[in-house]
Amino acid sequence: MMAHKPVLLDEMLDWVAPRDQGTYIDGTFGAGGYSRAILKAADCRVFAIDRDPSTRVFAEQLEAEFADRFVWLLGNFADMVSLVATHGIPQVDGVVLDLGVSSMQLDQAARGFSFRADGPLDMRMGDEGMTAADLVNHASESELADILYYYGEEKASRRIAAAIVSARKVAPIARTHQLAEIIRAALGAGKHQKTDPATRSFQALRIHINQEFDAIERGLKAAESLLAPGGRLVVVSFHSLEDRLVKRYYHSRCGRLGEPSRHVPEAPASAAPHFFLPKPEKRVANDAELKENPRSRSATLRMMQRMESA
Ligand SMILES: C[S@@+](CC[C@H](N)C(=O)[O-])C[C@H]1O[C@@H](n2cnc3c(N)ncnc32)[C@H](O)[C@@H]1O
Repeated sequence: MMAHKPVLLDEMLDWVAPRDQGTYIDGTFGAGGYSRAILKAADCRVFAIDRDPSTRVFAEQLEAEFADRFVWLLGNFADMVSLVATHGIPQVDGVVLDLGVSSMQLDQAARGFSFRADGPLDMRMGDEGMTAADLVNHASESELADILYYYGEEKASRRIAAAIVSARKVAPIARTHQLAEIIRAALGAGKHQKTDPATRSFQALRIHINQEFDAIERGLKAAESLLAPGGRLVVVSFHSLEDRLVKRYYHSRCGRLGEPSRHVPEAPASAAPHFFLPKPEKRVANDAELKENPRSRSATLRMMQRMESA
């Protein structure tokens, strides 16, 4: 299995700007590319969190290399306040989140994230909770349609939900290939399309199964509450829905009023902002990275910084 190749690594490091004696949280450890880069850049400490227990093997390598400068914690980054509190950490100098799934998760057919190889319809990043098979076999047609519409921006959400419900009357839907075929047939999609028409639905189910937007909302708030003056919150998102959430959150904290979102609590209009944005406020992959790592195509990096006086 190929280890996850980190995206926007130099840009992330430039915005985290690790310093000696600093404390940082890597909320999405994965294969540890970001944690390693931060630990190498300064004589600092990194608390790394991942909800996927299979990332432990990568953590063991960093524990051996960096000893007590590195701590790996199994859990959801939404719970980062209590996770780092168990190590007596009330405040940190930076938090980095690299949202979504890793290439290790996508590449393992048994995890059921991808329809490239056939596998059981699982899609859980951790080992708790409902699987995608539970969802597609038991959710109501309208719930399925809503999930596909809101988390996949799938315009044909109703048609696909109806096809899923009629297919499961014949036989339970248990495999990724089986579901992908049901979706393609519902869309009457040909093979000539650049992106497989099942992609949006798979993304939607994954987001729902892992409650990803809820985790982002709670994770951003938790990170905000931990940041010391001058501390930075650096987030890489992988699709426009995630990036929109992060952008709205940042704008609401930096005194810019944007469109309301049910996932982002509005800051009181009278409150003076405690954070500011860099210029430019986002970064994307350069040509060299795009060529070398096609996954970087949709990555967007954003940062906000707590004011020194806040
Ligand atoms: C894109 S990968 C991160 C890759 C990492 N930056 C690297 O260099 O290897 C995302 C990782 O975050 C984890 N993850 C996603 N959402 C999470 C959450 N809410 N809490 C904890 N871990 C999460 C996934 O399990 C996955 O391992």
